[in-house]
Amino acid sequence: MDGIDVRPADAADHAALLAIHHAYGWDTPALEDEEWAIRVSGSIVGGASLVTIEPGLVYLLALIIAEPFRGSGLGRQTLEVLLGSREARWWTECRDSRVAFYERNEFSRSDRLPESLSIYLAEPGVLPTGRRHNFLTRTSELGE
Ligand SMILES: CC(C)(COP(=O)(O)OP(=O)(O)OC[C@H]1O[C@@H](n2cnc3c(N)ncnc32)[C@H](O)[C@@H]1OP(=O)(O)O)[C@@H](O)C(=O)NCCC(=O)NCCS
Repeated sequence: MDGIDVRPADAADHAALLAIHHAYGWDTPALEDEEWAIRVSGSIVGGASLVTIEPGLVYLLALIIAEPFRGSGLGRQTLEVLLGSREARWWTECRDSRVAFYERNEFSRSDRLPESLSIYLAEPGVLPTGRRHNFLTRTSELGE
């Protein structure tokens, strides 16, 4: 897909990002983490939320592409930009149907979460309830 732009969101992007998160079921009241905006031809069509748990340890809290834009490589391209933005160990959690997407992007399933991440995830409202949790992890290099 042409005209893709993935970069850290600024304050003016937050309303559009929040609307996308809400439309696709993530009931967050506000955006307080490291937010990235995904644009196609200038319009926001998705977003990503990252939390730095400790230096070199990043949790991908959310990655959402609006439905009409899925399946065109935008998710993969977004992950490439995010992963290339730092050298880190990444973790994420997703529903069963998204595991394959992350595995195709070199994440591996693991339940051996670092203690600092477990403490963060135990905070109320961080992990979704009512479904199985699938944890995945991979490392990244700056500029990869
Ligand atoms: C999951 C999501 C981010 C993927 O983005 P996308 O732009 O549709 O994915 P891409 O087109 O970049 O797909 C990359 C690869 O993953 C595969 N893939 C994507 N979604 C998949 C799925 N649900 N099941 C299996 N494979 C999937 C694609 O086939 C592609 O494989 P390929 O490399 O062999 O071609 C997007 O579908 C989405 O926003 N879903 C809803 C929100 C969500 O659940 N987010 C994740 C948890 S926060």
